[in-house]
Amino acid sequence: MKITVVGTGYVGLVSGACLAEVGNDVLCLDLNPEKIRILKDGGIPIHEPGLDQVVSRNVAAGRLHFTTSIEEAVRFGTVQFIAVGTPPDEDGSADLQYVLAAARNIGRLMTDYKVVIDKSTVPVGTADKVRGAIAEELVKRDVVVPYSVVSNPEFLKEGAAVEDFMRPDRIVVGADDEQAINLMRALYAPFQRSHEKLVLMDVRSAELTKYAANAMLATRISFMNELAVLAEKLGADIEHVRQGIGSDPRIGRHFLYAGCGYGGSCFPKDVKALIQTAASAGQGLKVLQAVEDANEAQKLVLVDKITRRFGSDLSGKHFALWGLAFKPNTDDMREAPSRVLISELCKRGATVTAYDPVAMDEARRIFAEEPRLSYAVRPMQALDGADALVIVTEWLEFRSPDFSAIRKTLKSPAVFDGRNMYDPALLLANGLEYEAIGLGIKRN
Ligand code: UDX
Repeated sequence: MKITVVGTGYVGLVSGACLAEVGNDVLCLDLNPEKIRILKDGGIPIHEPGLDQVVSRNVAAGRLHFTTSIEEAVRFGTVQFIAVGTPPDEDGSADLQYVLAAARNIGRLMTDYKVVIDKSTVPVGTADKVRGAIAEELVKRDVVVPYSVVSNPEFLKEGAAVEDFMRPDRIVVGADDEQAINLMRALYAPFQRSHEKLVLMDVRSAELTKYAANAMLATRISFMNELAVLAEKLGADIEHVRQGIGSDPRIGRHFLYAGCGYGGSCFPKDVKALIQTAASAGQGLKVLQAVEDANEAQKLVLVDKITRRFGSDLSGKHFALWGLAFKPNTDDMREAPSRVLISELCKRGATVTAYDPVAMDEARRIFAEEPRLSYAVRPMQALDGADALVIVTEWLEFRSPDFSAIRKTLKSPAVFDGRNMYDPALLLANGLEYEAIGLGIKRN
């Protein structure tokens, strides 16, 4: 099949590369010439495990191509994926200008049947706007060209994006006509050989499904984070509670980990956008508003613990920070809890030396104007001269550090762990104070 993918961000590039991997002929369009240059040279502009191999393999096989030419992109694919960004507007609603510009380009240039697929996370009703934008362009040109608009939201996780695309647990397709449905079935047949994964529905339900999924997951996390704060007050242990409730199949074990708040490109943005969509429809979403508020508060939980230990004026204090990315296996720092933590510590007069396996370049860009933040090339180097260690991302390489070396290096032997990585008994045995999330009792 000939497929065009508009936008080479996480979703676009992963989708394009994985669709080429199963034998399709894929052309990816991006208007950023620098991105396209990197891709044509065999590099990838993002950090995503396994993606570089899939991209280079398919470029070499002649199935994956890149362009900055809108004309070429529209001409190329019968299938046209729109996978451009939908950044939040000031009020939290998704900004659709890039999606609609892509739709207009298709309408302006198409000469034969196209299936236009919304892959970006877009508010309910966007497919209708896309359909309208294409129709307007066709009217301007005074031509009739058939097309379908489909909603096919993506559920991939950063850090596991290739695996998620190649082995999806479901493929949500919202389509209103038979021709588009048949084409979508054929497109996804290679990804559902073991059992039927296609969940077919109308376009608006598909659009809402994406928000519902992310909002539900964010709700679980905020719920556990609030309970963790309560567990500390009550002398209970959130890790025990998590195991106790997660074994109920109605609840399930995933996404119950308390921490220093969720971040990333999806949960914060999608929660805000759904609240905004509901408000425009005249409905307040009380539960989801609380999810959002709880998460904002949770990003300050480590700062609260640090100021309780060192006082609210942190002048002269120095902190080692392990982890900058919003989660492991990505260099993405969008809405990362580390950003709030760094800003708060620096605002209170502290200095910070951070280490992250892949996100330090991103941090240098974001905190270019912050002289109080420096970087270490190795995790232990970040501890030199530090009063305490703060951990915000659960990278594998932080799992089993040398606790006695940490004890010897830190001035005040305190470890603040926003991801509950360690057995508290182990740290206590090494003479370290351990402040994690929701550990109201000392465990053995
Ligand atoms: C998420 C969804 O999982 C994915 O389906 C959707 O397509 C995009 O949004 P992603 O943002 O890549 O994916 O990351 P995810 O692994 O879901 O983690 C999001 C945030 O929640 C991270 O900050 C993570 O640390 C946090 N989290 C996750 C918790 O705090 N506790 C948990 O139990 C799980």
